[in-house]
Amino acid sequence: MRLFTTIAAVRCYLNFHRSKMTQATIGFVPTMGSLHLGHLSLIERARSENAIVVVSIFVNPLQFGPQEDLDRYPRSLDRDLSLCKQAGVDLVFAPNAEEIFGRSQQAKGKQQTQPQTSVVPPSSLMAVLCGPTRPGHFPGVTTIVAKFFNIIEPDRVYFGRKDAQQLAIIRRMVTDLNWPIEIVACKIVRDASGLAYSSRNQYLTPQQQQQAAVLYRALCKGKQVFLDGNCDAIAIFAAVEAELATTPEVKLEYLQLVDPDTMTPLTKVEEVGLLAIAARVNTTRLIDNLILRNR
Ligand code: PAJ
Repeated sequence: MRLFTTIAAVRCYLNFHRSKMTQATIGFVPTMGSLHLGHLSLIERARSENAIVVVSIFVNPLQFGPQEDLDRYPRSLDRDLSLCKQAGVDLVFAPNAEEIFGRSQQAKGKQQTQPQTSVVPPSSLMAVLCGPTRPGHFPGVTTIVAKFFNIIEPDRVYFGRKDAQQLAIIRRMVTDLNWPIEIVACKIVRDASGLAYSSRNQYLTPQQQQQAAVLYRALCKGKQVFLDGNCDAIAIFAAVEAELATTPEVKLEYLQLVDPDTMTPLTKVEEVGLLAIAARVNTTRLIDNLILRNR
């Protein structure tokens, strides 16, 4: 496995391999590191479908708000590298902010590193779920992901359904900007309690982790109402909220039902709906979701 920190080295390595293997595909898994079983499932899938697997590890300052956890976001590069190596990754790209945003802007004394050009998703995709409470988050994600797409030029890129709004926004970006890239959506990986793996779970005490498992239980109660034949958002929400009420330590931020591709709010599920939740356990913000689908 190779570790590169510069764009030039990544381009040089990938161009060399592209020229050697005409049919070979490059699979790419973008991450912010602090890898867990969710990330590893994306890497495994990429490994099984491509000749070359690239993982990026970069805690992207653009996608954190001023009051968010950029400084304390968990970082564990050595551990991440050994997990990538075990998983058969060919190349880890772990640049620093200067490599990604350039020296000239830092020299000009900017407080926060910002590229001068950014990619902004359509406002309709940011009007719901995490958009209103995290202004700047999704433009930060699309801008960094666009830069990585241009550096790596992957054939397939792997994203988790855990970040369902991010997935919808990236799909839209790839279509709108005509990247010849296949976006592969991967299922949410959960621990035995149902809690979705997240780098932010590290902020939780064991007791808080147990409490956080109510999110998945509550979503499942909502899904059961739907499976029992009631597809109205009001009935589904009532079941979710009743379960959440059993764990008052978990404070609901939003509970919404939207179309998973367009993010349009739904009052009932016609064919498919994304039941999405965000909540805080103490100061830690967690998100989760389930797809509700009529056959
Ligand atoms: P990060 O939070 O590190 O997540 C990297 C990828 O792992 C995302 O596609 C995310 O959806 C997926 N993932 C996280 N937890 C998962 C789980 N429990 N099951 C399945 N997949 C899971 O998402 C980001 O980083 C950043 O926004 C990034 C795209 C790297 C841009 O900076």
